Amino acid sequence: MLAVAVLAAGKGTRMKSDLPKVLQPLAGATLVERVLASCQRLNPSRQLLVVGHQAERVQTSLAARPELEYVLQQPQNGTGHAVQQLLEPLAGFEGELLVLNGDVPLLREQTLEHLLERHRSSGAAVTLLSARLADPTGYGRVIADEAGQVSAIVEHRDCTADQKAINLINAGIYCFDWARLAQVLPQLSSDNDQGELYLTDTVALLGSAIHLEVADADEINGINDRLQLCQCEAVLQQRLREHWMREGVTFVDPASCSLSDGTRFGRDVIVEPQCHFRGNNLISDGCRIGPGSLLEEVQLGKGVEVLFSVVRGAQVADGCAIGPYSQLRPGTRLEADCRVGNFVEIKNSHLDHGCKVNHLSYIGDADLGQGVNVGAGTITANYDGLRKHRTLIGSGSKTGANSTLVAPLNLGAGVTVAAGSVITRDVAAGALALGRARQVVKENWPGPV
Ligand code: UD1
Ligand code: MG
Repeated sequence: MLAVAVLAAGKGTRMKSDLPKVLQPLAGATLVERVLASCQRLNPSRQLLVVGHQAERVQTSLAARPELEYVLQQPQNGTGHAVQQLLEPLAGFEGELLVLNGDVPLLREQTLEHLLERHRSSGAAVTLLSARLADPTGYGRVIADEAGQVSAIVEHRDCTADQKAINLINAGIYCFDWARLAQVLPQLSSDNDQGELYLTDTVALLGSAIHLEVADADEINGINDRLQLCQCEAVLQQRLREHWMREGVTFVDPASCSLSDGTRFGRDVIVEPQCHFRGNNLISDGCRIGPGSLLEEVQLGKGVEVLFSVVRGAQVADGCAIGPYSQLRPGTRLEADCRVGNFVEIKNSHLDHGCKVNHLSYIGDADLGQGVNVGAGTITANYDGLRKHRTLIGSGSKTGANSTLVAPLNLGAGVTVAAGSVITRDVAAGALALGRARQVVKENWPGPV
């Protein structure tokens, strides 16, 4: 049996933030979500989260995971004190306890599987993850012999000058034999520089500890301040971009682009510089994105082009072209081969096959039939100050430049709206609608004096 405990009660003083540290976002997911995700393949029978600082906020953020058991640590008197809080909920539990620091979010699932296997085959009381770092500053140092037996962990601030030179560090990830850990937990003392109970002191107390060195030291990056947050973001982004490049996506300038875990690409997609993908996106084969675009919760069909544009909450079918300088807002659905051009905003609207909205328009709460040609500067006036209303435009219709369509409004198929019109009444199929003052010309006008 395996139980997992994630330590997430600390304040994260060094972040200088109102947000509890484990709720800081990293590539679109919080630190604690990432830590929890890293152990799911192990199929733990219990998942406990030690919470304390802003406990409610942490719990609310994880409301979608009813399998989590929360253990309150109040006050927060160190990582050893945090694990002492498990003595009651895990009373009688038999098996291993995997302890994960809530601020170590880049662990790979395979690494934890490896840790568990190593622990089970060695028979040690605890197996901990370690790494060799060029700069070990801030981490606990692992005092170990050549066979990998660990005699103690000494926190950076408690190290002697000689110990500070050790570059083998404690990652904060441990696999304990729970029964043996439970026996030594009550013996922890706060006789250290911070006056806290250190989980790391159990290593010496247990007298039977080994370490497993990770091959990729990036995995065990702990986040204590914004600099480390940014370093971890860079590692994650690089992992995501490398993955997608191997899957057949071209990044022209990868370092200038950011991805989310939930973004999926087809083959032969080209991502130009300065493009950002957030949330869940599907970018199908042959799309060309950017330069300079933001996409969030979008589905793009094959061969879609997006240039210098913001696309959010939209579905765009095959062969559409967006931009430059378009904004597609939530609820926008474009069928195949539509064109949306510069300085056009579309919201909560459906455009059927082959529509063109090429210049300076606002289309909100509208349904356009096939092949509608929206003239430059056409606006759907969808809001009367109290409520939103819909505009329907039949297939093959054409609006002239600078028309205002005052909703609720229904234009039939093949309607022509004259340039500069304000249309307030429904128009039957095939008609021409004009709604503007007739031009007046005064001959021989004296002009300005
Ligand atoms: C800890 C380790 C250190 C290791 C490093 C790896 C100890 C004493 N030291 O140091 O050896 O190199 O992680 O990143 O464990 N927490 C609680 N309750 C508390 C205190 C902390 O739940 O009372 C949680 C924090 O929310 C955090 C985790 O434990 O997620 C680690 O705490 P932190 O203060 O960051 O420990 P480090 O100084 O990084
Ligand atoms: Mg830390």
